[in-house]
Amino acid sequence: MQKEVKKYKVFIPKSVEINKEEQIIVKKVEASKIELEIEVTKLAYQLSQKTDLFTVPEIVAADLANGTITYRYLENIVPLSALLINGELTAEIINNVGKSIRFVHQNLVLTQKKSLDKSYDFLDPTQYRSAFLHGDFTLNNVQYDLTAKKIVILDWSTSTSFGKAGNWGVVYWDLSKFISSIFISAKVSLFYRKEYENLAYQFIKGYTSNQEELLVLKKFGKKSSSFEMKLDAENSPQKLYYYYRRYIPWRQCAYFWSKFDFKKVMKIKLP
Ligand SMILES: Nc1ncnc2c1ncn2[C@@H]1O[C@H](COP(=O)(O)OP(=O)(O)OP(=O)(O)O)[C@@H](O)[C@H]1O
Ligand SMILES: [Mg+2]
Repeated sequence: MQKEVKKYKVFIPKSVEINKEEQIIVKKVEASKIELEIEVTKLAYQLSQKTDLFTVPEIVAADLANGTITYRYLENIVPLSALLINGELTAEIINNVGKSIRFVHQNLVLTQKKSLDKSYDFLDPTQYRSAFLHGDFTLNNVQYDLTAKKIVILDWSTSTSFGKAGNWGVVYWDLSKFISSIFISAKVSLFYRKEYENLAYQFIKGYTSNQEELLVLKKFGKKSSSFEMKLDAENSPQKLYYYYRRYIPWRQCAYFWSKFDFKKVMKIKLP
């Protein structure tokens, strides 16, 4: 099994320490975010127990004074970005990711509802379907358990994505962020990648499979790509580097949205 993981590009940040013997992983979390991460992850874990769609790591301990959360170690998991790079991210997996985040949006209920910052959340939550969001739903935080053949959703520290600790907003936030990450996770390419487009559609199909329409997606998505670029640049001291890295995929992303074919995802709805 161990060998299998090695063929994938898995990056473990310094904030995380793995203890394989005890089957735990200790994650260092900023004081301002730790309580939120604990609360959201615990609820997400409970949610994961009610579905076969995805797994969430269980919290086994937390130390607020030291700023650490101890999670049950999930062996043999790899980020979807690693699967994508290896050409192993299948339509089935990505379709299940869509179903999973749909399940989260429909069922995750947090005790505190903090709306996204207005300047970031450009769709009015009272006008469009809103929910508690994962917030950092990307190909790195969504992983795949190679043994159980199941999706794993990590990093429920919603607030890290937003200047303020928002956790509630229009569902397109998570969707468009994920789709953007399809285009920016893999190697930068000058050419529009049809296979990424297919994955994006599979993801939306998974999300819409219980027949609700996503009519505003096109309008939102375009804005969303530029929004994400802005956010990344603001958060990074290396603005130019980010700009360079994201420039081409961003254009691809904008292109994707500009030709977004609503019928393509709604076909499945027809009897
Ligand atoms: N329970 C777990 N079992 C196995 N590996 C894990 C677990 N939790 C985290 N990891 C590994 O550690 C990495 C970082 O975890 P996580 O995303 O929660 O931390 P982070 O500090 O937010 O990282 P980043 O800022 O890079 O997103 C994951 O991509 C994964 O490889
Ligand atoms: Mg992460």
